[in-house]
Amino acid sequence: MESKIKDLNDKLALAYLGGGQDRIDKQHEKKKLTARERVHYLLDDGSFEEIGALVTHRTKDFGMEKHQFYGDGVVTGYGTVHGKLVYVFAQDFTVFGGSLSETHAEKICKVMDLAMKVGAPIIGLNDSGGARIQEGVRSLGGYADIFYRNVQASGVIPQISAIMGPCAGGAVYSPAMTDFTVMVQDTSYMFVTGPNVVKTVTNENVTSEELGGASTHSTKSGVAHITATNDVECLEDIKKLISYLPQNNTETVPLLPYKLKDEVRDVLSDIIPDNANKPYDMHSVINGIIDTDSFFEIHKDYAQNIIVGFARLGGRSIGIVANQPMYLAGVLDVDSSKKAARFVRFCDCFNIPLLVLEDVPGFLPGTDQEWQGIILHGAKLLYAFSEATVPRVTVITRKAYGGAYDVMNSKHIGADMNFAWPSAEIAVMGAKGAAEIIFKKEINKAEDKDAKWKEKEAEYAALFANPYSAAERGFIDEVILPKDTRRKLIKAFAMLKDKKVDGPQRKHGNIPL
Ligand code: HXC
Repeated sequence: MESKIKDLNDKLALAYLGGGQDRIDKQHEKKKLTARERVHYLLDDGSFEEIGALVTHRTKDFGMEKHQFYGDGVVTGYGTVHGKLVYVFAQDFTVFGGSLSETHAEKICKVMDLAMKVGAPIIGLNDSGGARIQEGVRSLGGYADIFYRNVQASGVIPQISAIMGPCAGGAVYSPAMTDFTVMVQDTSYMFVTGPNVVKTVTNENVTSEELGGASTHSTKSGVAHITATNDVECLEDIKKLISYLPQNNTETVPLLPYKLKDEVRDVLSDIIPDNANKPYDMHSVINGIIDTDSFFEIHKDYAQNIIVGFARLGGRSIGIVANQPMYLAGVLDVDSSKKAARFVRFCDCFNIPLLVLEDVPGFLPGTDQEWQGIILHGAKLLYAFSEATVPRVTVITRKAYGGAYDVMNSKHIGADMNFAWPSAEIAVMGAKGAAEIIFKKEINKAEDKDAKWKEKEAEYAALFANPYSAAERGFIDEVILPKDTRRKLIKAFAMLKDKKVDGPQRKHGNIPL
């Protein structure tokens, strides 16, 4: 028995070495952790149980049978994050550049299948040269097996991808179909075709970083939801993200113990400027409402005119969607509509209540937006809110103009509780523009046109630049003092916790994609 135990230990020791010490050193030189180190950082101490450490590839072409590494370039298994079960796969760049073979894909599928059967999140740590070139179509088949599972798991268990090295070609489509993608600055990139192909096809000179680095995908494309400065920060971000999520779509959100106390927040009274055209930072409203330091922002540097992220309110996880007057006056445009719609749909899949903080002057006008299809993309957000059945609460802090009033979780599209601050202005448009249109003749006839315009603007503002017309109709449930907002929201979400809505019978809706 002793020799058999030694034999097993020798094999496991080899498996733990991946592609060998030289390649591990190279990985460290690139400021990257190895697959095993990453799993170790991600999971609670001692919780990792590996599955398939002794798997090897089956290829005999190109003399590959002579090159065998236990694990075949991916470390897979399960463990816990903050005590909660998660499944994980981490591609090992030290073995054939983390490239995906048939067996490598089988290992990933195995943990994905387990995650689905048990109902727990799956976390993928990607660091790979793509399809195992020596395996041809077997590798492509392996990718498709993973893609198919990504889609089956969508809306059932949370799926999180970290990009911690190369991720190119069709390989990018697995992360793209998961719920969140975290990228590491300077050491990771994602693109469908790399700089060399780009040069050949379009004659463009571009670096990997410019084409598909973390900053590109977190600011320009929106492919990355979170950017980390290094591997450890990336793994910490994933742990934090997990803390807000239920394990699957049948569970309710995490609720930390909390007792209602003095919830008055005077700081909220001084945020809205007297001049309605002056910006303010919606983050200060968010932070004034939620549990201290609990905001975890998603897509922070992309479409900054809307803010989305998770927070805790009285211990309960919630998702927040908030217009940001600091950027483009908080207007809705193509990118912000897509960003918010995706977030709303994620929250709705996983029973995460939604809080909307609204200060929106409307949709962004102009050819650029129209030609990009603002009609279609704005409709995504309208659709996402309208179909969401989770508890939905809105607070209008200032402007709620035009179609954007309807879109931003209005009562009419199924929101449960709608509050407004006394500073709210709920109207078809701003008073100045409205006066110009409906009193055009009167203004033109007047001796002092400017004075007449101002008079009519004031008349319109008195009627609509407030929350009371909407409150009289019941479109707003209550006009509240800013300082009471936190208490009102904690109570509203507690009241709504058992909300149940059955939609119409259908296969699925047809969101304007
Ligand atoms: C097999 C691979 C590999 C691959 C890298 N390696 N990529 N082996 N299949 N796809 C091996 C290398 O031979 C090398 O082995 C080791 O991994 C490390 O690679 P290096 O090139 O030394 O590393 P580095 O200089 O850091 O460059 C990394 C890289 C480069 C940029 C990823 O390796 C590269 O360009 N690889 C090919 C990428 C590619 O074209 N993949 C196919 C894309 S198509 P040794 O033994 O020397 O350590 C695709 C389709 C997917 O993925 C479709 C899904 C639908």
